[in-house]
Amino acid sequence: MRRPLYIANWKMNKTELETRAWFEGLSREDLDPDACDMAVAVPFTSLRTAAGMIAGSGAASLPVSLAAQNCHWENSGAFTGEISPRMLADLTVRFVLVGHSERRQLFGETDERVAHKVKAVAGAGMIPVLCLGETHEERDSGRTEPVAERQLRRGLEGLDIVRGECVIAYEPVWAIGTGRTATSSQIAEVHAFLRTIFAALASPEIAARTRILYGGSVNASSVASIAALPEVDGSLVGGASLDPASFLDLVRRGCAA
Ligand code: PGA
Repeated sequence: MRRPLYIANWKMNKTELETRAWFEGLSREDLDPDACDMAVAVPFTSLRTAAGMIAGSGAASLPVSLAAQNCHWENSGAFTGEISPRMLADLTVRFVLVGHSERRQLFGETDERVAHKVKAVAGAGMIPVLCLGETHEERDSGRTEPVAERQLRRGLEGLDIVRGECVIAYEPVWAIGTGRTATSSQIAEVHAFLRTIFAALASPEIAARTRILYGGSVNASSVASIAALPEVDGSLVGGASLDPASFLDLVRRGCAA
């Protein structure tokens, strides 16, 4: 009932020309369009080019949608350097990552700001992808679940989760970009826990249809065992998404698992 979702997170990579080349490198024969959903979270400067490539003939038969990596929570105003949800929706963005650990750790994003953003993204008709996960120190001190619960509850504060769709991405901070994927039992435990909390916040039916992705050093070799876990509904993929053929290979293996 939950269609797997694979989101490429390019982070701060690729110029406009490189964006074009990435989409040209997606081969449509490689994937059954009904097997899963895909999205590509490109830098703001690549959104228009990516939107054009997705709408163009090359990727049109693939289930690819456009994603952004961040946004502000106001739709306009004196916020120099920021991009609003309205601007993203205008460029056909469908998903927006919110609260990625790099935003939280390097740019001081708090749970409160994350909640504003989640609400604003949904308000502009897009789907927020609420990213959360514990640091190494939090796991070592047995705080994985309380941290995940806090980030989930506070991140969703103010969102009408009964009516609006959202996606949750569990990404242990210590697994991101480190080559250290969490073990299957670690992932299974946190995903089951998150779904239980989500069911209490919304309802069991809504929790049963909400996608919870895993992220953190997922690659073509590890994706199948992760995707096979019952509570995992796809992945948020950083490093392994930068090459289009490798990303498609990863998605194909994940969807077949
Ligand atoms: P990674 O990044 O796959 O390179 O670990 C994942 C993410 O940050 O979303």
